[in-house]
Amino acid sequence: MLPASAVLCLVTCSVAVFAASPPAGVIADCVLCHGTDGRGNEAVAAPRIAGMEPWYLERQLVAFRRGWRGTHAADDQGREMRPMAVMLDAEHVGSVAAWFAAREAPPPQPTLTGNVDRGRQHYSLCAQCHGVRGEGKQSLGAPALAGQNDWYLARQLHLYRSQYRGQVREDSYGMQMLAMVGTLVDDQAVLDVVAFINTFTEPCSLAVAASPADGPGS
Ligand code: HEC
Ligand code: HEC
Repeated sequence: MLPASAVLCLVTCSVAVFAASPPAGVIADCVLCHGTDGRGNEAVAAPRIAGMEPWYLERQLVAFRRGWRGTHAADDQGREMRPMAVMLDAEHVGSVAAWFAAREAPPPQPTLTGNVDRGRQHYSLCAQCHGVRGEGKQSLGAPALAGQNDWYLARQLHLYRSQYRGQVREDSYGMQMLAMVGTLVDDQAVLDVVAFINTFTEPCSLAVAASPADGPGS
């Protein structure tokens, strides 16, 4: 016979697993664009979401749902994603984020080139929030950048520079990032900083093991 504590664990643990399982049909929709296991698919501009921080994925789904992302007329890719987030049942947002956060996928191949040395100089500011190796800092609400598709990073930096993302007052984390992107003065600066981020070869999933200095945050 099992000790009472083990029985309790069997019950509570299986409840936790059940709560963390999103409907298979929802996941099937997401991977249509985001690729098998959420590894990303450049052909449809859908980034890697496998192995990203669950709190960050959840916050972005909420941002799309609230129209903080994916509403600007010129933001074609954001406008493709937004209806997918809006269609989600509110009760599934957390479990869908957790499901993709727990996936493992091979690291993406670099597709862009830039001046790594100049990128390193630009990145000294970014490191304060995103970490010296792009590992992210949950205490500041800043996601990992290491292991993300480089074309997606460049695109997001252009979105911030154009104020198509991070421009809504209630989106306090987006506004912080918007304030920082001014240091990337042109397209070349974006390419350079992304080329430097490409040198952080660790996949996003490493970011889940937050550094000891990080509190629960966000
Ligand atoms: C029709 C294609 C499509 C489908 C289906 C789709 N997405 Fe997306 N998704 C995108 C695109 C394109 C982007 C990038 C938007 C941008 O560049 O701002 C994106 C971005 C995201 C982001 C932001 C990631 C980040 O790093 O900021 C998350 C999270 C996300 N999708 C989750 C999901 C989930 C969960 C589902 C299933 C419910 C889903 N997507 C279904 C195309 C899609
Ligand atoms: C003051 C802190 C801070 C600094 C400095 C900062 N960021 Fe960010 N960054 C954030 C936060 C917070 C977010 C998340 C915004 C959100 O939740 O929508 C973010 C988001 C991003 C994203 C979007 C990632 C994704 O998956 O959608 C990119 C790319 C990015 N930052 C790159 C940079 C680069 C490059 C620099 C340096 C030029 C930089 N950041 C400087 C705080 C910062």
